[in-house]
Amino acid sequence: MDKILEKAIKTHHLSKMEIIELLGNNNFDNNIFAAADNVRKKYVGNEIHLRALIEFSNICKQNCFYCGVRAANQNIERYRMVPDGIITLAQNAINKGYKTIVLQSAEDDYYTAEILADIIKEIKKNDVAVTLSIGERSFNEYKIMKEAGADRFLLRIETTDRELYKKLHPNMDYNNRVECIENMKKLGYETGTGCLVGLPNQTIESLADDILFFKELDADMVGLGPLIPHKDTPLKNMTADSFWLSLKVMAITRLLMPDINIPATTAMETIHPNGRIIALQSGANVLMPNFTDESHRSQYEIYPGKKSVDYTKLEETFNKTGRTISKSKGFRQKTI
Ligand code: 5AD
Repeated sequence: MDKILEKAIKTHHLSKMEIIELLGNNNFDNNIFAAADNVRKKYVGNEIHLRALIEFSNICKQNCFYCGVRAANQNIERYRMVPDGIITLAQNAINKGYKTIVLQSAEDDYYTAEILADIIKEIKKNDVAVTLSIGERSFNEYKIMKEAGADRFLLRIETTDRELYKKLHPNMDYNNRVECIENMKKLGYETGTGCLVGLPNQTIESLADDILFFKELDADMVGLGPLIPHKDTPLKNMTADSFWLSLKVMAITRLLMPDINIPATTAMETIHPNGRIIALQSGANVLMPNFTDESHRSQYEIYPGKKSVDYTKLEETFNKTGRTISKSKGFRQKTI
């Protein structure tokens, strides 16, 4: 195990078998987390990048088995923000000093690429980066939004186990998802992907494949977290016990991809009382505070108990641990 870890620290490459060894043995977890923390410090430094998250619509055409805003869930109130409302929220965040605005929604075709392009252009009048997280669209739609000024795009692969992908995503296609992610890269977006950890019948072999997928793609950002079962979904009877495994997948991702941006995800915060700090000390360097209107926050319930922490007083806490809040847009600086 020591040898594998040493190799990861030195070369930032591991074989699938080596990743499986790390994932399958829990005796060295603290060493893995510490090693990822060191690699984080060495390559991306002590700055934490904040991204203001705006969840502007929970109206979804998809039916992902794990997700609380899936189309078939009739127990939530649906909302769709008007462009001016979205721009106002973005402006609030910008006034507070945020340098990245993340526009996230369920898969809602009401927002055409043209509508989104107008919103992006308006936000981009400020000196900020814009990240989109709105699901699968055509190459041409991605292109329109890129040309409007969007800088980054997030689309998790969710799982690279094709059979599992098929079961969990009715009427969706794994190949199309990969193509969407590749299209973002082609168009020059900083590209983010990621996975869920703790899905039914998910194996450590497939988690190793997920990590290798991120590496192979040369993703600029990787966000991942534990499954948190939602009562109005087909996965309601699963257990929420994957915090440590998801943390390990994240830490190994950091070891293999030293200069990328990795968030301490909200799911990690939600499932463990110290999840945010633990993640920041195990490879993460990004936080995504929620800027969604109070009135809509509870409606964007992709999983229960979704945390929305007040980050305003946290700077002090971070400073104590040697971390500072970045004032830059926080693009990936490729070093290797
Ligand atoms: N638990 C944890 N994460 C979830 N997501 C969706 N549903 C859940 C859940 N029940 C994640 C997916 C999606 C991201 C926005 O939220 O990975 O890509």
